[in-house]
Amino acid sequence: MSELFSRPGNETLDPQDWAAQTELGQQMVADMFDYLANIRKEKVWRPIPDEVKAKFKEPAPLDPQTQEDVYQEFRDLIMPFPMGNLHPRFWGWVIGTGTVSGALAEMLAAMLNPNTGGGEHVANYVEQQVIDWCKEMLGYPTSASGLLVSGCSMANLVGLTVARNSAVNYDMRRDGLQGARPILTAYASFETHSSIQKAMELLGLGSVSLRKIPVNSNLQIDLEALDMSIASDKQRGFIPMCVVGNAGTVNTGAIDDLNGLADICKRENIWFHVDGAFGALAALLPTQSPRLSGMERADSVAFDLHKWMYLPYEIGCVLVRDQELHREAFTLTPAYLTHNDRGPSGGENWFSDFGIQLSRGFKALKAWMSIKEYGLRKYARLIQQNIDQALYLTSKIEAHSHMEMMAPQSLNIVCFRYVIPGYSEQQLDRLNTEILLRLQEQGIAVPSGTEIEERYVIRAAMCNHRTRVEDLDLLLQSIEILASEIQDDAFVEVPVV
Ligand SMILES: Cc1ncc(COP(=O)(O)O)c(C=O)c1O
Repeated sequence: MSELFSRPGNETLDPQDWAAQTELGQQMVADMFDYLANIRKEKVWRPIPDEVKAKFKEPAPLDPQTQEDVYQEFRDLIMPFPMGNLHPRFWGWVIGTGTVSGALAEMLAAMLNPNTGGGEHVANYVEQQVIDWCKEMLGYPTSASGLLVSGCSMANLVGLTVARNSAVNYDMRRDGLQGARPILTAYASFETHSSIQKAMELLGLGSVSLRKIPVNSNLQIDLEALDMSIASDKQRGFIPMCVVGNAGTVNTGAIDDLNGLADICKRENIWFHVDGAFGALAALLPTQSPRLSGMERADSVAFDLHKWMYLPYEIGCVLVRDQELHREAFTLTPAYLTHNDRGPSGGENWFSDFGIQLSRGFKALKAWMSIKEYGLRKYARLIQQNIDQALYLTSKIEAHSHMEMMAPQSLNIVCFRYVIPGYSEQQLDRLNTEILLRLQEQGIAVPSGTEIEERYVIRAAMCNHRTRVEDLDLLLQSIEILASEIQDDAFVEVPVV
């Protein structure tokens, strides 16, 4: 018998030498602090050499290396080629910058390593408190349920799932969408983020059932066109299930008439979802919160804390007004997950009953510690600072003889382009694309690009707490220099059609 099995070993992944581990851990923290303290002197972005890329094609090692050696590889291969979003002159897409405190909290969360899917342990109480604070920040009803998720794409998916399941008079979770089911339709402006379309596709409703409604000159949803679209779908026997309002569109920061949308949804008995990825947090500012009026009437709201709360990735949040509908959309408790009323399998809140994930990390800690450390007033000041930076940039562009705004400035987003009299629209598109790529590739600054009314524009989204006014001045000076270099290169000499 004794030959059939051997006594199990006591091998572990814990360090053998805790003192040496402490020293290396402290070194890592010191190196990262040093890196961040000097980030301004770095290029915003740099290309990754081919020999570095080749290292990431190597097969998985069978034998160990020392932790010191692996860390050295991190320093040589990974640290020098970041995305750039820690840098004060990164304004691309809507990318957050992270914070030192948030990163330290992530380390603490990873060290404690709880699974916040459910159970009676303190991490779940921390998450519930963060969700309660989120409701306060947005002025959303305190009776709502909520969930921290990876980001706003996931938050939108959760909100639309509850909307879909609530729209029908049968058990969607049991019967699904197979067979002769009614056609469910959703409505959102043309400027709405692609994650809403993805959610429609993932929910089995198809992108064709997302009605993209035209916008007005401020790039807000046209309420009349929305009304007409809903009426026409009803006439065809479809079930309008959800209207998505934007609290800050990704392209231009436009805020839809949320009260107007709430009124339509109430009248038509349609779920009202707000995508407030970054804009929802402007509710912290007395100057901006009137523009968001109506958000508190939404059936669900999705937003991010890794954008305009500057927290390290990933952390988004969804709030749902009717917590029972929210729970009904996701709860499923196999025997091995029975919720007890005592012990570690007790607990008031099983977050796995409110979303897709069963196993979940301790995202809440970085939000909890940061909100405590900084206080909401400081967040409000930083958000205002970003809005002021967008206004400053706008005023400089408007005063510049060779630059023009390409969309009304809203919240923290500025869309503009460089213009040269006599150039065709196509030449201007190429000129501005080339300006943007050179800005990025030379590591000067990272705005991003988009299209507004089919024209290419440079787009700066301010959710960076490290930006200073001189960074914005440098952006504009660099654009001028690059524009004249590109003209000299005759780069844009494309035939005019
Ligand atoms: C308006 C809007 N909605 C949704 C998203 C998706 O958010 P995430 O990238 O956190 O999934 C974004 C991302 O920029 C956004 O701007």
